[in-house]
Amino acid sequence: MSSVTVIYRSPFETAICSSDAAINIDNPRYPPQIRGMPEDLEGVVATSTRLSHVDGEAGRLTIAGYALEDLAPYASFEEVAYLLLHGRLPEPAERVRFTQDLAGRRPIDALRMAAALLSLGREESPGDDAMTAIASFPTIVGAYWRALNGQEPVPVRSDLPHAAHYLHQVFGAEPSTERARALATYLNTVCDHGLNASTFAARVIVSTRSDVISAITGAVGALKGPLHGGAPGPALDMVFEIGTPERAESVIRAKLDRGERLMGFGHRIYRVRDPRADVLARAAERFYASGGDQRLYDLAQQVEATALRLLRERKPERRLETNVEFYTALLLHGLGFPSELFTPTFAVGRVLGWSAHCLEQLRDGRLIRPQSAYIGPTGLHYDRGPARPAV
Ligand code: ACO
Repeated sequence: MSSVTVIYRSPFETAICSSDAAINIDNPRYPPQIRGMPEDLEGVVATSTRLSHVDGEAGRLTIAGYALEDLAPYASFEEVAYLLLHGRLPEPAERVRFTQDLAGRRPIDALRMAAALLSLGREESPGDDAMTAIASFPTIVGAYWRALNGQEPVPVRSDLPHAAHYLHQVFGAEPSTERARALATYLNTVCDHGLNASTFAARVIVSTRSDVISAITGAVGALKGPLHGGAPGPALDMVFEIGTPERAESVIRAKLDRGERLMGFGHRIYRVRDPRADVLARAAERFYASGGDQRLYDLAQQVEATALRLLRERKPERRLETNVEFYTALLLHGLGFPSELFTPTFAVGRVLGWSAHCLEQLRDGRLIRPQSAYIGPTGLHYDRGPARPAV
């Protein structure tokens, strides 16, 4: 094994340790601040928050004190937004004012929206930026999607609640109460989730005292990856690929034989079923029962059961359960969203959490600056050569 050197710097000391291990952060020669720290920051508490708590062992998600399943299916998105931004649910008059404030910020055209989001020529104001971003995301996604498909953007309606407004921006028609309720439940369910990768990215960016819009832009980039928010499309593709219940076993076995991951299963924190999957499964069940493609819903349930059985068989030592993405795909598909809009729709909900985390970070946080353990070589000799005098 090659000899490596780990260099670290702490507020108290600077030191260089040599080690024969590739990297062993339990090495007693490292200072206590580093010893025992896992790579990839798994399990490391990097900040404190009042916004949401993910209990991975018990499979519970608490949003600012409320159990997800008590809040998401019943509250409006505006109420949840107020809760995360102000730390409590609004009184009736506050709810009306907040709803009007949010609706009044819906940008009138894509250009103005894009300009606001690019932070061009604006006074920075964290609270205002947060509200503007939350209000703008539905229109950005809707206008962009319609333009891409050769359709005119629809005028912004400030009289529709947030979830209904998003459906209107994408599909151009006022949605039924059931569709708006199903989408509000989805947006509430994904609005915040502890220190996930995109939220962490946002907090890191704003911890430098950069602006909220820049932080949100970075968060969108982090969300896009298939290991984070980019999984619902592939999760549904698998259900379509399987097509009929009898093919579930053979298709899933073949995927696992090829070493592929089953999209919509597994989670870094949850060791039990993701509680968001339950809330969304119930929302999807209600929605599909009210006129959707019931056959697809039943097929998805059979695919889920088969996937869980085979994952247990293949990885008995690792509890891999259904995550939020599996039923996200089913619900959003039922609502008529094409798979290209699954991740943007996730962002329409999660921008609330990013914004609230940015405000919390600006209020209570310090510069986030973890350390890295250097495992590369040291002491290499740079050959200046005879014709290369020092400059
Ligand atoms: N299908 C098959 N095997 C899996 C899966 C899966 N979905 N998830 C993990 N495993 C296996 C890994 O291959 C690995 O096996 P190995 O030890 O034999 O190499 C073992 O389980 C542990 O995997 P890790 O990558 O260490 O687990 P981690 O906690 O890093 O992964 C993650 C979490 C990225 C979500 C993973 O479960 C995964 O890739 N799932 C599929 C993608 C997905 O659904 N992403 C959405 C997550 S939810 C969200 O972000 C909103």
